[in-house]
Amino acid sequence: MTISNKKPFIAGNWKMYKTIPEAIEMVRALKESSPEVTGAELVVIPPFTALKDISKVIEGSSVQLGAQNMSWEEKGAFTGEISAPMLKDAGCRFVVIGHSERRQYFGETNETVNKKIKAALAHDLIPIMCLGESLEEREKEKTIEKVGSQINAGLEGMGQEEMSRIIIAYEPIWAIGTGVTATPAQAEEVHAFIRERLAEIHGNKTASCAIILYGGSVKPANTYELLIEKNINGALVGGASLEADSFIQIAKEAIRAYKEKT
Ligand code: 13P
Repeated sequence: MTISNKKPFIAGNWKMYKTIPEAIEMVRALKESSPEVTGAELVVIPPFTALKDISKVIEGSSVQLGAQNMSWEEKGAFTGEISAPMLKDAGCRFVVIGHSERRQYFGETNETVNKKIKAALAHDLIPIMCLGESLEEREKEKTIEKVGSQINAGLEGMGQEEMSRIIIAYEPIWAIGTGVTATPAQAEEVHAFIRERLAEIHGNKTASCAIILYGGSVKPANTYELLIEKNINGALVGGASLEADSFIQIAKEAIRAYKEKT
């Protein structure tokens, strides 16, 4: 199961929002509008509790499903953890790994990220690996160094075949939930660096096919200017993915940008 960046990839990370009835209501509305945005890959990433119900609602539509986290273990005495086979069982195709909130509040490191990516791939889930710098690191001009080290450590041991099944999301921490988006130029600089680094390690073909998402205060109003940048293949959306209308609007803007640049 490989992935392609021929269409913009728009994923909504709901974080810890929505009860099951709220989730179902949102996804029903999304499903209804989804025929308008078949030019984009559309993925919802709800809390674990809503996964199974949502997988039933999206059946027969183009909307796809992902989870926000998983264990690197397959099963066992690991209270509170959810494994890759459980996510597959609930209907997931994607899983977010190493979101900055997990690194910041739940002790995730590049090493755990690496183990989780390997476990996801082993179970045929597509990992969306998150990385990005803090405000302090940006101000000290350490952005490239930070992102480079996260790529090297997080993707250690991956070959070309594995890389063809991994999505990368650049999410500058200072832009998450703050309303402050990276400028298109700031985002593109890091995206171009990520693609170059992938080319160095895995060759040009793998790098040019890679899906590299931007995340951090993406809204309908700034999607076009971000997605028109050469190396930005989509968005990982938080707050603006919670309502069907704004999420669909983001997908439409992404399709408009993609049409123009390709
Ligand atoms: P916001 O879009 O709310 O800034 O969140 C971004 C994010 O963290 C997506 O994973």
